[in-house]
Amino acid sequence: MITIEKNPVSLLPQTDLTAPVFGKIHTDHLFVAEYKNGTWHEGKIIPFQHLSLSPFALALHYAQSVFEGMKAFNTADGRTYVFRPEDHHTRLTRSMQRMCMPEIPKSLFLEAVSTFVHLEKEWIPSAQGGALYLRPLVFASEARVGVKIAEEYLFLIMACPTVPMYSKPLSVKVETQYARAAEGGTGNAKCAGNYGAAFYPTHLAQQEGFDQVIWTDAKTHSFIEESGTMNVFAVINGVLTTPPVSGTILEGITRDTILSIAKRMNIPTEERKISVEELESGFKNGSITEIFGTGTAAAVIPIQKVSIDGRTYSPEGEYSIMNQLGSTLQSIRSGTLEDTQHWMVFVD
Ligand code: COI
Repeated sequence: MITIEKNPVSLLPQTDLTAPVFGKIHTDHLFVAEYKNGTWHEGKIIPFQHLSLSPFALALHYAQSVFEGMKAFNTADGRTYVFRPEDHHTRLTRSMQRMCMPEIPKSLFLEAVSTFVHLEKEWIPSAQGGALYLRPLVFASEARVGVKIAEEYLFLIMACPTVPMYSKPLSVKVETQYARAAEGGTGNAKCAGNYGAAFYPTHLAQQEGFDQVIWTDAKTHSFIEESGTMNVFAVINGVLTTPPVSGTILEGITRDTILSIAKRMNIPTEERKISVEELESGFKNGSITEIFGTGTAAAVIPIQKVSIDGRTYSPEGEYSIMNQLGSTLQSIRSGTLEDTQHWMVFVD
């Protein structure tokens, strides 16, 4: 049973929800559960506040820290739901196993998410694409500088009102010098270290005027993998194509959603490796008509410019496949198209 201590002072009346900058505004509450003495304890929802943490907390030193990015939406008729929470729990569990962290029971995770969203649902912006971005975070809180697997953890859920993270088509650089993930590494775990390690190459690309990089495989730098905050799709000869989720690519929930919707719409799909060479020749000969990114925070966003070794390409298609997929997803989310896959879990 999750206990709730309501925040006596809500920040909502003084918050402008029309175009919130991603990740800047927090809602009124925080969910906290503790792992200690070999078990996860019942969680509580408390007023949003700072944590008290030992400087010895193991996560700060050795990066035993994983997270999820999920969204809660309102349907057109005003019901609130969380999108694919069980799948987020499955991915979180996989990430935690890779980082030697104790599994969070599914029942605890799902109850925490729905109780929390129920309490914070007034924070969902009414704008198109408006959502409550949920950030479940689990990290090693045990105070010990010794290099070891922690025996104490905190599981938090925080939230921010959001609209899709990018407001305009992206310009990306295919990164062939630095790598995000190597085989056998942690590329398919949503662990904090993957993001910190990506900052430097991304920062260099941003200094050159790009929004993001598209990573390539660490061994040969000849196959594309994913982009910083998104999985990548290209429409090649009319086929919706995306690299297979291997150990080095994060299994995006939005990626999977888009593939399912494409199958439902009889759009041909293929999960296969895409070489940088194929990408470049596809732009040159016009066989690549669309390239876009998908992610929970990013939603579905066109990539307008792709730079390969200093040569810049723009697909010449009208993004009709991406637009059809995006609007079908939007119709499911707003409740106007049947949710045949039971992705929406209502909290009220
Ligand atoms: C998400 O899309 O939810 C992510 O976690 C990517 C990024 C915001 C860290």
